[in-house]
Amino acid sequence: MKPDGVERGLIGEIVGRLENKQLRVVAAQLRTIDEVTAARHYAEHAGKPFYDDLVAFITRGPALLLVVEGPADTWKVVRNLMGTTNPKEAAPGTIRGDLAIETKENLVHGSDSTESAEREIAIFFPELA
Ligand code: RTP
Ligand code: MG
Repeated sequence: MKPDGVERGLIGEIVGRLENKQLRVVAAQLRTIDEVTAARHYAEHAGKPFYDDLVAFITRGPALLLVVEGPADTWKVVRNLMGTTNPKEAAPGTIRGDLAIETKENLVHGSDSTESAEREIAIFFPELA
């Protein structure tokens, strides 16, 4: 969960949606992400026009780092619960569709493949990798 979700008091709402779907939280930590870690995490976006804003946003206060477990391809389940990147277009019923309106401040990040889930878990929870 990105800092906007924590700032807005949406921890219960968003974690609840994951748990209601029967995903299990197996690691969680409230942490202000530092710039080096943010740059590692969002390396794929380095050089894009929104990159500096994105790093400033993601490091501006505590984020709730979560690892959730479920059946095969759980990352897809999470992405479906999140909704599309632009909350204006995200379907009602999704986290972004119901709770966000701006593209940058879209409340949640989710790994977009098994490989990125493994990579990101290793960045934030090296003891689990
Ligand atoms: P995320 O990586 O955070 O889970 O989001 P995503 O896959 O849905 O979207 P992605 O394309 O990876 O973009 C990463 C985050 O950068 C911000 N963004 N801003 N045009 C813009 O201003 C713009 N585009 C992307 C959003 O916070 C997006 O989630
Ligand atoms: Mg992404």
